[in-house]
Amino acid sequence: MEKKYILSIESSCDETSAAVVVDGREVLSNVIASQIDTHKKFGGVVPEVASRMHIEVISGVVEEALEEANVTLDQIDAIGVTYGPGLVGALLVGLQYAKGLAFATKKPLIGVNHIEGHICANYIQHKDLKPPFVSLVVSGGHTFIVHVKDYGEYEVIGQTRDDAAGEAYDKVARALGLGYPGGPKIDKLSKEGNPNAIEFPRAKFQEETLDFSFSGVKSAVLNYLNKCKMQNVEVNAADVAASFQKAVVDVLTENVLLTCKKRKVNKIAIAGGVASNSSLRENLIKVAGKKGIDVLFPDMILCTDNAAMIGSAAYYNFMNGKENNLSLNAKPNLKL
Ligand code: KG4
Ligand code: ZN
Repeated sequence: MEKKYILSIESSCDETSAAVVVDGREVLSNVIASQIDTHKKFGGVVPEVASRMHIEVISGVVEEALEEANVTLDQIDAIGVTYGPGLVGALLVGLQYAKGLAFATKKPLIGVNHIEGHICANYIQHKDLKPPFVSLVVSGGHTFIVHVKDYGEYEVIGQTRDDAAGEAYDKVARALGLGYPGGPKIDKLSKEGNPNAIEFPRAKFQEETLDFSFSGVKSAVLNYLNKCKMQNVEVNAADVAASFQKAVVDVLTENVLLTCKKRKVNKIAIAGGVASNSSLRENLIKVAGKKGIDVLFPDMILCTDNAAMIGSAAYYNFMNGKENNLSLNAKPNLKL
């Protein structure tokens, strides 16, 4: 079969990205313009600023992706774009651009769910990976356990009821004065701390569920820090970071392993920004390995937001005959 070239665009949060991906697995280019340095000053992503910055760079990013891949628009078979979930103003920039391109070139438009994109990053990294497997998607905005039954066929098994895992990392990092984004900073600082120094709570629900809650552990850390301040006790930031991280990683590991057992699946593919966390990777490999379960994860650059993962997901949608027309709208709360 002739190879399929997808031009993909991602702008759901604070990265403007465009990529050219062949047959869902081979990345010819993956250009990422990150706004992190700007948002750092505000301690988090400011939606209006994000939209404006996407507008400023999107044309250049798409042109660069084509140039780097050494392909022309004529050679592209379809245009893939994230249409949700995410910040509505940010999503609209990439989506409108993709729709304009699809209209002008008469190429098919393929809307992609951002969460699906994160999962598909594993197809790029692991060329032999095929469904079924269990995916743990952990990022700044999302925490999902998904049973990937086939290409494009997903069942959500568990999700967060409040904060996303990455969001908890970012908030705890802010309280410790570590800056934004907090995940990588806590990850690094934790290596110097004792994960058993402080017992932070792990959320448990009464009913049988694999859902998560991270606002409890986040509040427990904030209360601990306040108490230390009031009692004039010096805080060991590395111990707090390591203990918080352990509480989060323990729950993520436990629920994803329970899912594998329930669904009789022996492959886990982690995805999203928090999937680059070293403790999560090590712990999962260790615990799952004892049960004969394989743990896969993408390189760091494919874990955080990028358009190559959207190109991979768009390819499988395209193969499944899923195309959209130009009335496709941004869906900030799009479900998987
Ligand atoms: O997937 P992503 O780039 O954006 C969203 O779709 O949300 O994820 C960003 C999130 C941030 O919350 C960041 O703090 C977290 O991923 N993160 C990490 C690490 N690297 C990034 N969290 C824990 N450990 C890390 N090493
Ligand atoms: Zn993301």
